[in-house]
Amino acid sequence: MSNLRIGVIGCGGRGNVAGFALQSKAGARIVAGCSDYEPHLEAFKEKYGDDVYTCVDYQDIISRDDVDAVFITTPDFLHEEMAIAALEAGKPVYLEKPLAISIEGCDRILKAAYKTKTKLFLGHNMRHFESVLKMKEIIDSGQIGEIQAVWCRHFIDYGGDAYFKDWHSEKQYANSLLLQKGAHDIDVIHWLAGSYTERVVGMGKLSVYDQCARRHESERGDASFRDENWPPLEQTKCSPKIDIEDHNMIMMQLRNGIQCSYLQCHYTPDTCRNYTFIGTKGRLENIGDTGNSQIYVYTDRHSSFGTPNQIFQLFGQDQAHGGADPNIVDEFIRFVKFNDLTNTSPLAARNSVATGVLGAASLREGNVPKVIPELDPALVDYFENNQQW
Ligand SMILES: NC(=O)c1ccc[n+]([C@@H]2O[C@H](COP(=O)([O-])OP(=O)(O)OC[C@H]3O[C@@H](n4cnc5c(N)ncnc54)[C@H](O)[C@@H]3O)[C@@H](O)[C@H]2O)c1
Repeated sequence: MSNLRIGVIGCGGRGNVAGFALQSKAGARIVAGCSDYEPHLEAFKEKYGDDVYTCVDYQDIISRDDVDAVFITTPDFLHEEMAIAALEAGKPVYLEKPLAISIEGCDRILKAAYKTKTKLFLGHNMRHFESVLKMKEIIDSGQIGEIQAVWCRHFIDYGGDAYFKDWHSEKQYANSLLLQKGAHDIDVIHWLAGSYTERVVGMGKLSVYDQCARRHESERGDASFRDENWPPLEQTKCSPKIDIEDHNMIMMQLRNGIQCSYLQCHYTPDTCRNYTFIGTKGRLENIGDTGNSQIYVYTDRHSSFGTPNQIFQLFGQDQAHGGADPNIVDEFIRFVKFNDLTNTSPLAARNSVATGVLGAASLREGNVPKVIPELDPALVDYFENNQQW
């Protein structure tokens, strides 16, 4: 079968993930790129050759006959419009997380994929993290019994660099960091716990980055990571408008009875997602999530802390999210070309966004519990059946 010809909408920043398509044995090449920022188009041509097509308007990509599929790697608030347009043009879509920034937006994308029978794939690369796959394997083996409780602490040392200097800092563009960052973790919790959130309650606030020096609104936001931007209150050139929280805590009641909590902080000195899954015969936790990391498993009772019964040492790559990025891009290409089954799921992506959206609503409205609305059963069946009909 011939190479899948890929167009990249949003070809700077995360758009670079599409480059892993060239490593896929399933066969793909990059033929077109779109960005509203000229230096990203120049870098794209430099990377893929002068003969790739480049443009500023994404419609020019989805209307091309020589583009078989698209990556949509633009900011979160553009996902809905661009994904629906691409699906309606019959182009299979690799869409970065979060699926959209509202539940209604997510459901409109899923409906467009269902109606057009055009393949939709979500960039939930944590479903290819070695640490996540190992935790899933241990849980599925029954070693720690039936899971009853899940906790996740998420420390983000680069929060001030990445999320408080450009579009991420405003609700109208990101809704909440419970989507931008949390959609990953909520998805992992759902996947490993084997269920989706039914009810969510939240508490959180903006307390650090609103005190930092701001850039002028005429200056382009620079979200690059710099270790010297420390401590958090010494950040400069933060966004003129910041109305998202830098500390988020939610509690989730899953449909299968499992109870979960997720805590996310953007002003910690270190970075880690530390999950704890607690079952009826033990618990496990991850120390590190990509690169060299460990999974600690505790199965004997003992009244001290930090002495696991078993340690699984993982040796992931340091780059490309521990090697998850080439794997997820390969999965997309095999899904489009051969209908291969996927670790990722648009349905799960919708339910992680729905939990983040309503978790944010809860914390903004006095911590009231929110119930996740169910999706049309026809859509559930379609996506549970790997988008076959
Ligand atoms: N899965 C992951 O590990 C991961 C990591 C980082 C980012 N992301 C996701 O990737 C997406 C992009 O994030 P980013 O940090 O690269 O964003 P970004 O702000 O750097 O923008 C990405 C690209 O989109 C272009 N763009 C913006 N508006 C456009 C428009 N109207 N038309 C055409 N091009 C436009 C930008 O110029 C840039 O080239 C987000 O949805 C983010 O959540 C995922």
